Amino acid sequence: MRLALLGCGTVGTEVVRLLHDQSADLAARIGAPLEIAGIAVRRLGRDRGDLPVDPSLFTTDALGLIKRDDVDVVIEVVGGIEPARGWLVEALRAGKSVVTANKALLAEDGAALHDAAAEGGGDLYYEASVAGAIPLLRPLRESLHGDRVTRVTGIVNGTTNFILSAMHATGAGFAEALEEATELGYAEADPTADVEGFDAAAKAAILASLAFHTRVGAADVHREGITEVTAADVASAKAMGCTIKLLCIAARGADATGREAVSVRVHPAMIPLTHPLASVGDAFNAVFVEAEAAGQLMFYGRGAGGAPTASAVLGDVVAVSRNRLAGVRSASESAYADLPVRPMGEALTRYHISLDVTDRPGVLEAVAGMFARHDVSIATVRQGPSGGGAAGRGDDADLVIVTHVAPDAALAATVRELRGLDIVRSVASVLRVEGGP
Ligand code: NDP
Ligand code: HSE
Repeated sequence: MRLALLGCGTVGTEVVRLLHDQSADLAARIGAPLEIAGIAVRRLGRDRGDLPVDPSLFTTDALGLIKRDDVDVVIEVVGGIEPARGWLVEALRAGKSVVTANKALLAEDGAALHDAAAEGGGDLYYEASVAGAIPLLRPLRESLHGDRVTRVTGIVNGTTNFILSAMHATGAGFAEALEEATELGYAEADPTADVEGFDAAAKAAILASLAFHTRVGAADVHREGITEVTAADVASAKAMGCTIKLLCIAARGADATGREAVSVRVHPAMIPLTHPLASVGDAFNAVFVEAEAAGQLMFYGRGAGGAPTASAVLGDVVAVSRNRLAGVRSASESAYADLPVRPMGEALTRYHISLDVTDRPGVLEAVAGMFARHDVSIATVRQGPSGGGAAGRGDDADLVIVTHVAPDAALAATVRELRGLDIVRSVASVLRVEGGP
């Protein structure tokens, strides 16, 4: 099997190392040796340390490498939309098999890749694109194909999980926790894709597409990052026996009219400390899958890093190589259900709302009335003196309200109108609550 490796950075170098270190085992498992035909990079002169590979294999001509007749499998670990999309479409149309870790491209235009794979007859595998080393996509696209997946809830971004875990453990604010994540090498120099939720949203789109047999793209995913999460939010969550996590939630179900649809969202949410995802700390990832017959399944492990990601890439390389030797390809994309994607306003969720209100008769009634007007049921109310102290400021009170499940649009409208009440001095924090009873 001749491999074209596109990219030799954090992941690519570890792919090269594994190919070298495991070559005998890989050959035995596949039934043929794996050989690197070429490695496409941007900078030929870059110092790549003691990489166990012939330096003459490096090239800057990725397209030329892909087009070579002696290349069977193309491994793409460059990232980004272009030129990766053009390369992979070219490779797949030419009948090569492709292994990629590129979640951004799959979420942006997975359809172009799947269509090209169907046209060329090769395989398209992308286990490393979501949750790094964790075997998650193969179970969704194979093992669970006899079942009906109803919900996928996950922590799929390591950087933000590190930041939120640090905020929970130390009481630090977002900026301080981000600084620590950067110093330790978890956050990139430009952390926007992680902290604004773009990375998790791309992964959510890929998970939803596989789980619900429906094409879901990045644009279909409601996305909120963690930059607005404050130390006070985290303290408030702790007071309720909860912690805050950036969750990706993909759910399938019927609405009140019986119409089946999916909803896919990424946002910070409070979850009870007893929830299995609450104990996922540091930069780890975990995904909780619920299926009608299987029940609840949990997948946990390292979601990033060169070696863990390369493990998933190599697993795919073995699978597609075996297929090529046997003259078969894996089942093509399964998008037959073609379900509509619900707007966020129709997603069912719960809110935790912290208000600073005037402390006088009738205030609770006015606040509760606002919830009732939007058909939102209140689950719990806690009132204390403003500022949380025993004495408070005298004429103010802190009011913490947790709702029952309601459509997000109704909850958002309630908060909007609460802000307009003159008895509400400020809305201190609004967080969604997931995973509770
Ligand atoms: P890096 O930035 O470390 O490496 C990118 C590589 O691509 C480099 O070798 C670079 O060349 C090469 N490259 C960039 N542009 C071009 C170009 N135009 N032509 C040829 N080569 C080019 O990225 P990572 O290894 O971190 O990530 C690779 C992919 O894996 C991405 O899709 C990422 O989302 C995904 N991924 C990464 C994870 C991680 O932990 N890092 C985890 C899961 C997925 P040069 O070396 O010369 O600069
Ligand atoms: N930046 C990503 C993370 C890398 O923090 O999880 C893995 O996709």
